[in-house]
Amino acid sequence: MRRHCGRYRYYLRPTSQSDNVTLASTILRHREEWGRTYHKFRGGTNDYWGPNDDQQNNQLDLGHHMMTMLLGDRLYLAPIDEKGQKCSQVLDVGCGTGIWAIDFADQHPEAQVTGLDLSAIQPEWVPPNCHFAVDDVEDEWTYPADHFDFVHIRCLMGSISDWKALYSQAYDRIAPGGWLQHMDMAIDFMSDDGSIGPDHMLQQWSQTFIEAGEKLGKTFKITDRAEQLVRETGFVDVHKKVYKLPVGTWTKDKPFNACQALKQIGLFNYVYCLEGCEGWALYLLTRVMGWPIEQVQVFIAKFRNALNDRKNHAYYMVSLRTQKRALYAAGRSAGFTQKIQAIEANVDNGTAHNHDYEADYYDHIAE
Ligand SMILES: C[S@@+](CC[C@H](N)C(=O)[O-])C[C@H]1O[C@@H](n2cnc3c(N)ncnc32)[C@H](O)[C@@H]1O
Repeated sequence: MRRHCGRYRYYLRPTSQSDNVTLASTILRHREEWGRTYHKFRGGTNDYWGPNDDQQNNQLDLGHHMMTMLLGDRLYLAPIDEKGQKCSQVLDVGCGTGIWAIDFADQHPEAQVTGLDLSAIQPEWVPPNCHFAVDDVEDEWTYPADHFDFVHIRCLMGSISDWKALYSQAYDRIAPGGWLQHMDMAIDFMSDDGSIGPDHMLQQWSQTFIEAGEKLGKTFKITDRAEQLVRETGFVDVHKKVYKLPVGTWTKDKPFNACQALKQIGLFNYVYCLEGCEGWALYLLTRVMGWPIEQVQVFIAKFRNALNDRKNHAYYMVSLRTQKRALYAAGRSAGFTQKIQAIEANVDNGTAHNHDYEADYYDHIAE
């Protein structure tokens, strides 16, 4: 059963995949630990580590601005509108506060944008073409095959136990010719001038969290592994861009990558780390690593001191991959290829839509 509550669709699967029960008031509850609140979707059984309170949500919104600036004030790089195509269905997986989905919906009034998250932390007032649902994205998606033109994933490092399965679900739900964009952080602090050596506090921090992610079974090293996984899943046209994200304002005026506003991004990142670190650490270091809370608090204090030390010229890498679900598989008949080429010519003229491909693709398979 599925019902709507305001703009939300709430899902709960207490007995079986097909029996979704609406329990809006339950879904809005949270659990509390160490003075912070955490999601309680399905009793909080998904061991997502981040709090869902205002402090963490403000930090997520700051992260959104930082990541958007890093892309040169763009929300995405996937060429979704390159050939005059229109996006009609868009999914943001693990949408957090919904800020990316809301901005995308504003920019694309023709699209229906859905954001999924474990927590109902999205605002009340959103564009009419933007909707949110509370769900675990590692469960079987409730959307039909070939439904989305664009699926967006950002900053789910340390949150997913089976990335291949997530990519496969995205692949099946993306229409042929549609795109997946995944942007994520490698949480490994480093420097080019030796200010962050292997024993540095920021390196100890990184290695501790990488270890915690592996112990939890939800890797923080997804940026290293993603490309092979998406190719194995069947995506094509895989393009990767890697950015250095500085922590603080230490970068010289001359930008070291394409972005013009690196000092400002670095300042945002400094505040992002300062505000975020307690929320990153509490669950992972106590529940997963088994540290006493006092040790965690000292570790957080040392991390903050290291962030404040202007001798440190730290950065970490952010990578963005765009990949496409192929329009048609190799080895099709010449007739089919000609048909698709004709549709592609129409797309070049701006007269076709992604779903035109879809219809012909399936007509042909049925032949
Ligand atoms: C670090 S935040 C990133 C939020 C957003 N993608 C952004 O870039 O602003 C990770 C988000 O993923 C959500 N999340 C983690 N695991 C999830 C899961 N299995 N299903 C749905 N949401 C999940 C969390 O609740 C959190 O809001």
